[in-house]
Amino acid sequence: MKYATRLLLSYLFFSILSFSIIIIWVNKAIEHYSFITIEKQMMEKADICELSFREILTRYEKSTTQADASVLAKDVLEVLKASGREVRIYNNNLKLLGSAANGIEVYNGSPKIYRSNIKNALKGNYSYTVTNKSLIYFAIPIQDNYYQNAYVFEIVEDISYFYDIMDKIRFILIIGAGGFIILITLSSLYIARRTTKPIKYLLKATEKFSKQQFDRVELKRKDELGMLAAGLNQMGIKLNEYIQYQKQFISNVSHELKTPLAAIRGFSQYLYEGENEDKDLKKIYFHLENESERLTKLINELLILSRFDKATSELNIDKEDLSELTKHVIKEMKPKAEEKEILIETDLKNGVWADVNKILMTHAIANIFDNAIKYSNAGGHIRVETSAVQNTAVIKISDQGIGIHKNELFMVQERFYRAENSNLAKGSGLGLSLCKEIVEKFNGQLIIESEIGVGTSVSLLLPFV
Ligand SMILES: Nc1ncnc2c1ncn2[C@@H]1O[C@H](COP(=O)(O)OP(=O)(O)OP(=O)(O)O)[C@@H](O)[C@H]1O
Ligand SMILES: [Mg+2]
Repeated sequence: MKYATRLLLSYLFFSILSFSIIIIWVNKAIEHYSFITIEKQMMEKADICELSFREILTRYEKSTTQADASVLAKDVLEVLKASGREVRIYNNNLKLLGSAANGIEVYNGSPKIYRSNIKNALKGNYSYTVTNKSLIYFAIPIQDNYYQNAYVFEIVEDISYFYDIMDKIRFILIIGAGGFIILITLSSLYIARRTTKPIKYLLKATEKFSKQQFDRVELKRKDELGMLAAGLNQMGIKLNEYIQYQKQFISNVSHELKTPLAAIRGFSQYLYEGENEDKDLKKIYFHLENESERLTKLINELLILSRFDKATSELNIDKEDLSELTKHVIKEMKPKAEEKEILIETDLKNGVWADVNKILMTHAIANIFDNAIKYSNAGGHIRVETSAVQNTAVIKISDQGIGIHKNELFMVQERFYRAENSNLAKGSGLGLSLCKEIVEKFNGQLIIESEIGVGTSVSLLLPFV
């Protein structure tokens, strides 16, 4: 997952989480405090009703004619019938003595009674129940002269307005949170882009470094990223200096060695060809000639590389048929393959054209072919194919040799790197790096596929012209 996406998702996750917590918490708090207000209002109303009720009750208890409870309820209702949407009076046996709805006394009917509510009130405290239809049944105990809870006065009110307000508040909260989350998403997108932009730039710079392109990293910031850029610049300068020094050193040594080596090679060849009597001596001269030839090859390759490094040489580039160049290489190297009884199978298509320098390209093909022979076991099999596929000219050389471990596939393309199991044959580890630089010089690429013990395929890909 990309850094910017991860940043964005983390922002989103934490903002949604915190908003959900805040919304739940605010919702609960508003509900709680609003309900306290309703409760308070109901209590105030209850106190007034209780006073009026008791006044009537006192009058009754003083009067000489003891009227029954239903007459009392009627009188109370006459005074308090408009105290709520509905009012009811119960005696201490939970019997409904009378009720009024919308300010009108109701004489018959059996409304739903919340008995537990009345029972609670009879214990001496206010008690209320809220129904599904948003009705609050608020029950008030009424004491007689002997301080007994003799009656319960119940006020029923519609508090649906409270739930409507709560719904509206919830809606506003959710809309607000949604808007805020959109804002946070947009701003975190902006922040993520802004943060990753210099990181991407630094990443590109390191990619260039790995290709030995040490361009200056320009990042005018005073924070950690700016410091990282400055550090990269320092590293680039040091690395470049070191690589240039190394290349210069190799170039100087190669130049210095070239002339004496040519002399050694000439003399050893002369000695080898002139010695016909002493077999041991002839063997030594043969060895001498062989080694000096190998060293000459190495020096020549180093000189080609150092010419590439300096990039001063203007190469002659012509349109060449890669199949023809490959044919030529196979012809030259066939004796070497035959020495190891290696069978060469070819499939060379006509007209595999590419813009290359003939000498260098031949050198590259020969190097790959040389490896295929060197790292094949005796009696092996090498297949050479050329083709033009979708604007790409391809030379593919496959062997059934020792193979290269997948961890070393890229390292073998570095100068002087030889794979662990390469002691089967002599070499300096320069061939492949040279091939790579040659094909890259002609805008191509080198691709190696290999499996230990199964074989190796090396493809040289060039733009088909
Ligand atoms: N066809 C192959 N099969 C197995 N290993 C290979 C093959 N080609 C290259 N290698 C491995 O890659 C390493 C690098 O190859 P490269 O051609 O650069 O060097 P070299 O063959 O050792 O020496 P040079 O080519 O300079 O004489 C070799 O040492 C060898 O370990
Ligand atoms: Mg080689």
